[in-house]
Amino acid sequence: MTLKKDGIDKPEGKLGILIPGLGAVSTTFISGVLLIRKGLSLPIGSLTQMGKIKVGKGDKAKYVNIKDFVPLASLEDIEFGGWDIFEDNVYEAASKARVIKKEDIEPIKAELSAIKPWKAVFNKEYVKKLDGVWVKKAPSYWDLAQMVKDDILKFKEEKKLSRMVMVWCGSTEIFQQVIPGVHDTLENFEKALKESHPKIAPSMIYAYAALSLGIPYANGAPNLCNDIPALWELADKNKAPMGGKDFKTGQTLMKTILSPGLKARMLGVSGWYSTNILGNRDGEVLDDPESFKTKEVSKLSVLDRIFQPEIYPDLYKDYYHKVTINYYPPRGDNKEGWDNIDIFGWLGYPMQIKIDFLCRDSILAAPIVLDLALFMDLSKRASLYGNQEWLSFYWKSPMHEPDRDPIHDLFVQLMKLKNTLRWLMDEPPVTFLGSESYD
Ligand SMILES: NC(=O)c1ccc[n+]([C@@H]2O[C@H](COP(=O)([O-])OP(=O)(O)OC[C@H]3O[C@@H](n4cnc5c(N)ncnc54)[C@H](O)[C@@H]3O)[C@@H](O)[C@H]2O)c1
Repeated sequence: MTLKKDGIDKPEGKLGILIPGLGAVSTTFISGVLLIRKGLSLPIGSLTQMGKIKVGKGDKAKYVNIKDFVPLASLEDIEFGGWDIFEDNVYEAASKARVIKKEDIEPIKAELSAIKPWKAVFNKEYVKKLDGVWVKKAPSYWDLAQMVKDDILKFKEEKKLSRMVMVWCGSTEIFQQVIPGVHDTLENFEKALKESHPKIAPSMIYAYAALSLGIPYANGAPNLCNDIPALWELADKNKAPMGGKDFKTGQTLMKTILSPGLKARMLGVSGWYSTNILGNRDGEVLDDPESFKTKEVSKLSVLDRIFQPEIYPDLYKDYYHKVTINYYPPRGDNKEGWDNIDIFGWLGYPMQIKIDFLCRDSILAAPIVLDLALFMDLSKRASLYGNQEWLSFYWKSPMHEPDRDPIHDLFVQLMKLKNTLRWLMDEPPVTFLGSESYD
C-alpha cells in the first residue's frame, strides 16, 4: 500500500457500486442494502455499519461507531450496476439464487427488477461449467475493455454519481499464474489486450477498465484477476486503490479464528481435514477441477502463514492439510462444512477438534461486499492507492507485495484495520501497553 495522507474528501454525492457477476452473493448484498435502507432489517455482519472503535486514552476513551468515526458513504447514497452472462434482472437472479426467502424480497421487488445487467465480457475457457448468452462481442479484448468503460461512464451520467467502486462477484475462473510478456508490465498487457491474447481472463478486462478510470477494484473470487504486475502498475499510475483475493467466509473464516488460538497456546497440529457440500452455482462452477484448483490454492495458503512451520517445526512441521468441496445441489447456498483437526498437547498426547458449520455462504459474504465497497471508496478519498493491505481482514488470500508476507490471523487483521482508521483520523494507535484495554 502506498500511504499518502493529505486529507480525506467528504463522501459527497452518490456512490455507484459496479458488480461483475449478479449471482448469489451480489443479489444478496444488493437486496440486503435495500431492505436495510427501508428499515426492514439490520446490517448484521458489517463492520462499517455495526462496528465500534475505541478512541482516546484512559478516562477519555470512548467507543464510537466506525461509520461516525471515518467519513463513509451513507447507504442512502448507493446506486448499483452490474454485468452478467444471463439477462435476468436482480429480482429474477435473487429469486433463482434462493438465498433470501421470496416473502423477504417482495418489499423491494420494484427496485431489484429495475437493476438489469449489462452484457458481460465472457470466455468459456475460463469458466467451463457456464454458457454465456448475454455477452459482448467486439473485434478485440481492447475493444471489450472500452465497452466496459462505456457502460461505467454511461451509468455514472445516468445516475449522477460522484464516485464509483467495482467489486468482482463473478464466478471463479480457472487457475492461472503470471505470464511474462502478457501480465508483467502495463505496456505488455495493453499490447496483449489489442492482440486478444488467450491468457487474458475476462475478470482482468473488467479490472483493467475500472483501474484505467481510477476506480477502486476489489476481487471477491480467488482467480488472479488484478493481482498481476501490469494491473498493480495501472493502479499506481491512476491512483486507484485495489485488493483481493477471495472473500473470507465459511470454513476459512473459522480457520483463521481457531488456528491463531491453537498457535498462541503452543498446541501442535498434525492434520487439518476440511470438506464441505455446496449446491449453488458457485458450487457447480467449482465442480470443474480447473476452477477448484484456483479455490484450493486460496484456501490452502491460510494455515501455513499462521502456523509458520519453518519457525515452529516441533509443532507444525509436516502437518497434513486437505480441502475438498463437493457439489451437492439439494443444499443450494446452505453449505455444510466439516473440519477434523488433529492436535497434540503436553507430552505429545493427541486430541481432536470437530467443527460442523451449517453456514449460509452468501449471507456471510454480503456484508463483506458492502464493507469493501465503502472502505475502498474511503481509501480513494484519502488518496490511498495500490493494494490496500489494511483490508486483508476481508480476504482468504490477501494480495501482498512479493517481498512481504500476507497477514492471515483475523485478530491481527482487525487490529491493523482499526489502527489504520485511527491513523487516517490522526488518532494514536491502540498498542495494549500499560492500562490500554481492548480496542
Ligand atoms: N459465497 C461466498 O461465501 C463466497 C466466498 C468467497 C468467494 N466467493 C466467490 O464469489 C464469487 C460469486 O459467488 P456466488 O456464490 O455469488 O456465485 P454465483 O455463481 O451465484 O454468481 C456468479 C455470477 O457471475 C456470473 N458470471 C460468470 N462469469 C462472468 C463474467 N465474465 N462476467 C459477468 N458475470 C459473470 C455468473 O453468471 C453468476 O451469475 C465466486 O467467484 C465465489 O467463488 C464467494
